[in-house]
Amino acid sequence: MSDSKTSNIAGNQMWGGRFASGPAAIMQAINASISFDKKLFAEDIRGSIAHSEMLAEQGIITKADQKKIAKGLKTILGEIEAGTFAFSEKLEDIHMNVEARLAELIGPAAGRLHTARSRNDQVAVDFRLWTKNEFLRVAEALKGLIAAFLERAEDHAASVMPGFTHMQAAQPVIFGHHCMAYVEMFARDLSRVKDAVERMNESPLGAAALAGTGFPIDRHMTAKALGFREPTRNSLDSVSDRDYALEFLSVAAICATHLSRLAEEIVIWSTPQFGFVRLSDSFSTGSSIMPQKKNPDAAELVRAKTGRINGHLVGLLTVMKGLPLTYSKDMQEDKEAVFDAAETLDLMLAAMTGMVRDMTIDTAAMKRAAGAGFSTATDLADWLVRTLNLPFREAHHVTGRAVALAEAKKTGLEKLALADLQAIHPGITADVFSVLSVQNSVKSRTSYGGTAPSEVRKQVRAWKKRLAKL
Ligand code: ARG
Repeated sequence: MSDSKTSNIAGNQMWGGRFASGPAAIMQAINASISFDKKLFAEDIRGSIAHSEMLAEQGIITKADQKKIAKGLKTILGEIEAGTFAFSEKLEDIHMNVEARLAELIGPAAGRLHTARSRNDQVAVDFRLWTKNEFLRVAEALKGLIAAFLERAEDHAASVMPGFTHMQAAQPVIFGHHCMAYVEMFARDLSRVKDAVERMNESPLGAAALAGTGFPIDRHMTAKALGFREPTRNSLDSVSDRDYALEFLSVAAICATHLSRLAEEIVIWSTPQFGFVRLSDSFSTGSSIMPQKKNPDAAELVRAKTGRINGHLVGLLTVMKGLPLTYSKDMQEDKEAVFDAAETLDLMLAAMTGMVRDMTIDTAAMKRAAGAGFSTATDLADWLVRTLNLPFREAHHVTGRAVALAEAKKTGLEKLALADLQAIHPGITADVFSVLSVQNSVKSRTSYGGTAPSEVRKQVRAWKKRLAKL
């Protein structure tokens, strides 16, 4: 350790001679990010190798130094992957931990890596690489969930269930149609992921501290090497932008919100009172005291974890709010939010996909419930409009009287005698019974996007084709 700069690194004083003594313990504790940003090690090393290659290509460092740097960085990658790397809080973050180790391994050449670069563009490029990769993982998980729903929808393209508004039985619908509603929701999440990636797919590396650099760097080269579409256009924005993190959290929060609605439905459907679905043993638990119970814990936790993700979104929005350009240390708080949201969302998507795949659908219970609560009343009103040319408002009134009668007789609309219906409106004929059954009700709803089995099948086919291309 003859080189004075190298010994400074080893002495954990990366900022050199300006500070006489090391940071106080509290300062170190509040300042250090290594406990969480070590997650970025692969991206950090990848970014550094690309940077060094560009420096050599541009004649800013020698090819010999670049070789040493790349070799050393690969050794470090191996050490971290093997769990033998000694992370140091004194070295603050992943960037300085890696650089200090590089100096130990290859000596003074290590000091050349940081030419024409700052930790500000370094952390920006690392975090973008990580977030982009996570976006792509979420996209794959969403595709898996959509595929699971498409399968269920196909199998249940004719299974009736009650459709609800206000959580009150409204009109009979097809269970497959209900599944396809979630396909629409998760496909929107997927499209949000895709366009967020499109927007963030630019490399900030080379913005240096904030103003760019006087070295003849080639930012297009590093952008390409790192898989970005192009370099970012403004050096100030490059180091101060965390929109991609905010977008990740926004997309995650909306997706989690969808998952929580599904989770809530599964909780309700799996109650003995509803009995629409039975969760597999792998996604439920028993009670330690009540032997009859099977609890939908996984669904409840999906419902709950949404709160965490929403919290992270609000947290980071609050961190970024009011920050002046360009980099401020506040921005170090971006990572834990995104890391935890990502891990949480991955788990939620995996658990939900498993539940959707494994749950048993009780079509008989759904069918019984679909007929309850005079759910075909609208079909009666529509029949009166279509067949007797009644204005809808009058048909609504006539139907109301029929419902009241059925209620008084404690029976269903389809069980009323024709004479009773004719007493309410003399024009009613036996043909009316063709629309009062649940099966015929759903069959009639052939409007585009409606619940008729024929429409559901069309949508399943169309989505299967679309999914294959996503
Ligand atoms: N650990 C820092 C972060 O996560 C790296 C960037 C530090 N830059 C600086 N100028 N102190 O934001």
